[in-house]
Amino acid sequence: MDKQPLYQQLADDIAAQIASRVLRVGERLPSLRDMKLRRGLSLSTVQQAFRLLEDQGLVEARPQSGYFVRQRSDSAPLLRLAAATEVTVDPLLWSYVEDQSEQHTERIQGFRSAVAPHDLLPTAQLQRMTLDCMRHHPDLLSDYGRPSGLPAFKRQIARLALEWGGQLLPEQLIVTQGTIEALNLALRALTQPGDVVAVESPAYFSLLYTLKALGLRVVEIPTDPVSGISVDALELATRDAAIKAVILVPNFSNPLGALMPDAAKEKVADMLAARDIPLIEDDVYGEFYYGRQRPRPIKAFDRSGNVLYCASLTKDVAPGLRIGWIDPGRYRNQVEVQKYLSTHSTPTLNQAVLARFLESGAYPRHMRRLRRAIASQMQGLLQGVEQYFPADVQYTPPQGGFALWLVFPEGFDSLALHQQARQEGIGLAPGPLFSPRGGYRHCVRLSCAAVWTPEQQARLVQLGRLVWQQYRSG
Ligand SMILES: Cc1ncc(COP(=O)(O)O)c(C=O)c1O
Repeated sequence: MDKQPLYQQLADDIAAQIASRVLRVGERLPSLRDMKLRRGLSLSTVQQAFRLLEDQGLVEARPQSGYFVRQRSDSAPLLRLAAATEVTVDPLLWSYVEDQSEQHTERIQGFRSAVAPHDLLPTAQLQRMTLDCMRHHPDLLSDYGRPSGLPAFKRQIARLALEWGGQLLPEQLIVTQGTIEALNLALRALTQPGDVVAVESPAYFSLLYTLKALGLRVVEIPTDPVSGISVDALELATRDAAIKAVILVPNFSNPLGALMPDAAKEKVADMLAARDIPLIEDDVYGEFYYGRQRPRPIKAFDRSGNVLYCASLTKDVAPGLRIGWIDPGRYRNQVEVQKYLSTHSTPTLNQAVLARFLESGAYPRHMRRLRRAIASQMQGLLQGVEQYFPADVQYTPPQGGFALWLVFPEGFDSLALHQQARQEGIGLAPGPLFSPRGGYRHCVRLSCAAVWTPEQQARLVQLGRLVWQQYRSG
């Protein structure tokens, strides 16, 4: 595995904190000894990292006092050089993907998957609608379908956007196989292998693997569990034209569950438009708010068509139909060509069934029920973590979505926990899944998607035991 050396990872982390002004000019860095203890590294590794930062002009050593953040006028290019990285895949992580295979889905349960549970989906209704569509529209089976999708479905998606104050036009939309294809098409339309894109840190793992598959490099932008991406760090990073696109999940990001405030959304939309850097927005969790109002996507603040908006009905209505969409803004032609070249079109029958479901008016009712259920499952999970896990685990209760991000003390090994939990049939997502270079090893994402039953609670109790075991043995 071609992971970055440890000193480089440490230097990148410190560089990112300087870029986002978590560490400010003139501020003293933690001492070498402190760093060594906190990160569980050798003294020479920490020294090497500090020397690298010194060479890059980001810090300076002061005799008898330690290292301090230096004043610089042009830190943006350094941020890119320090942090642009290729995505590496830890082979251990394939076991996570494997757990989704036929042999394992029944055996591994618990906290791994971020999709509504079967019992809460409108499957019986969709079944009837599927039969009806097939009976009355055999052409749905015999025609190829248009690359951009079925007009009746796109009209329904455009209507949904009214709720968040958006203007999606049916003729602008391109239907895709889930959000993941929408992201793929956007990236193919905007980038070439070797290009650099900016992502949240931590970031959704399938996105990272898509970036790897397309030969792209990433700049990780520090992201806050409450308010989302650091707008200051993004501002610095995108001063450099080398960044070809920015990808964000502003509403209930995965894995942090962060929600960007409207003011930050607007600022990012305007800033990237002014710099002519396209923004790929992933709004797959926008409908999963626990509060009263659906949060607005950045697309609602897009005045120039610079935002490529991606979403789907896979998390909330029918995971198996795999239907999503993209409004590519002013990049529509490029995205449509990519759709045609990659999969030609999206199964029309699936779109027709979902169009009918949306026309029937059942969606808002279904979502009200689903949102209530997910919010209460998250409450169960939060209470369980409070009760069964060590008190020094840090987390932020999310305001929507499925993800709860746990930060254990440095040195905690989430990959070991993942392996042990798996042996006992308990699923979770270890932190390194969400990093392009194996970071966040001391973090874990738990999903609240499964129904909160006594069995589910027992799994959390058992997981808490495994965590405690690791604390005691460490
Ligand atoms: C942030 C994010 N984007 C996209 C997806 C994939 O969505 P879809 O099933 O619509 O392809 C996921 C699924 O977990 C996700 O968490």
